[in-house]
Amino acid sequence: MNYLIDSGNLEEIKYANEFFPIVGVTTNPTLVARENMDFRKLFTSIREIIGPDKMLHVQTTATKAEQIVEEAVALKKLLGDNFFIKIPISEEGLKATRKLKEQGIGVTMTAIFAPQQALIAAKAGADFVAPYVKRLDNISADGGVQTVADIVNLFNIYSLDYQVLAASFTTSYELHKVALTGAHNATISAKLLKAAITHSMTENAIAGFEKDWKSVYGDKTVLDFVK
Ligand code: G3P
Repeated sequence: MNYLIDSGNLEEIKYANEFFPIVGVTTNPTLVARENMDFRKLFTSIREIIGPDKMLHVQTTATKAEQIVEEAVALKKLLGDNFFIKIPISEEGLKATRKLKEQGIGVTMTAIFAPQQALIAAKAGADFVAPYVKRLDNISADGGVQTVADIVNLFNIYSLDYQVLAASFTTSYELHKVALTGAHNATISAKLLKAAITHSMTENAIAGFEKDWKSVYGDKTVLDFVK
């Protein structure tokens, strides 16, 4: 499973990009509004941080197919390759997806809460489908993880050419359960990236190594011996 960061915050994106093996950034209008920055400046800065090779998923706020296509074309021109327009699923969104595919522009169909939404999005040509795990789990236990599992199964049964981009997570456990479904990607906050690699036993182990080393070698480092 690949990891992306779900954020519009430049500091968080810099942090994730420096320390974690992320393959891209996803945003949505809520995350963008939280930054209250010039839209163009925000996304050109994100592109600068992550470079040209990582994916950048930007959500449209348009609701009519023609306008969605127009926004996607302009954003693609601004943000270059590895750009994906995020479109919440709707009739107009599906129509836009078909048109964008003809123009070679990547589409992530988002706000997915049911497997059939994902299947129809894939048939329309979406490259990624983004089911919201936490929001489903909040209304029914394991609903989010099971929905992702069903969408992954559909992908396998029909050998479809799309990827699951699971979104909306609260806990590392949810992330782990989603990884077990075979989901191709998960987009998570900087806080969850950090939480996923944090374990009190790891911290104890590192503290033990440091104490034992210092008891014999003091402040010397391995490099002091091998340089
Ligand atoms: O981008 C969509 C998804 O990340 C939503 O997450 O945390 O608002 O449920 P959340």
